[in-house]
Amino acid sequence: MKRNILIHPDPRLKKVCEGVGDLSDDLRSLADDMLETMYDAPGIGLAAPQIGVLSRLIVLDCVKADSEAPRPLVMFNPKIIAASDEENVYEEGCLSIPDQYAEVTRPKVVDVEWIDRDGNVQTETFDGLWATCVQHEIDHLDGKLFIDYLKPLKRQMITRKMVKLKKELAREKA
Ligand code: NI
Repeated sequence: MKRNILIHPDPRLKKVCEGVGDLSDDLRSLADDMLETMYDAPGIGLAAPQIGVLSRLIVLDCVKADSEAPRPLVMFNPKIIAASDEENVYEEGCLSIPDQYAEVTRPKVVDVEWIDRDGNVQTETFDGLWATCVQHEIDHLDGKLFIDYLKPLKRQMITRKMVKLKKELAREKA
């Protein structure tokens, strides 16, 4: 089932999320809903707080080319266990901050540990866009948005645009 994506500013996007305990069918179907919502948007990553669920769960799939098979990843309790000194700059966006993009500098390569959909611990090294995406999504679990890396003026400008957008969306619904 597709879920509604929260738009910044929203207090739920600023919360530190709770770790997930034993996996249940409810958690698995939540992950499936998140993948469906992400692909529909379309986006390459989504974190549970973005649909108002304050649990440490993210989904991502950074395969872009249509010729390549999709690679949906579901990560419960994802943790960055190592990060490279070498950095990378990507123009980032966020489904909770529609149509706004800005360059963010992050470690180029990260090792991530997580619990997969079957309850198994996984670790993998991510590079390039995958590394940026997984860091961006894990940030969401700590109440951090990519605009928090920008200069205050730029951040305030984007936030004002989002406040306006939310007012327009609310008016459309009314
Ligand atoms: Ni995001």
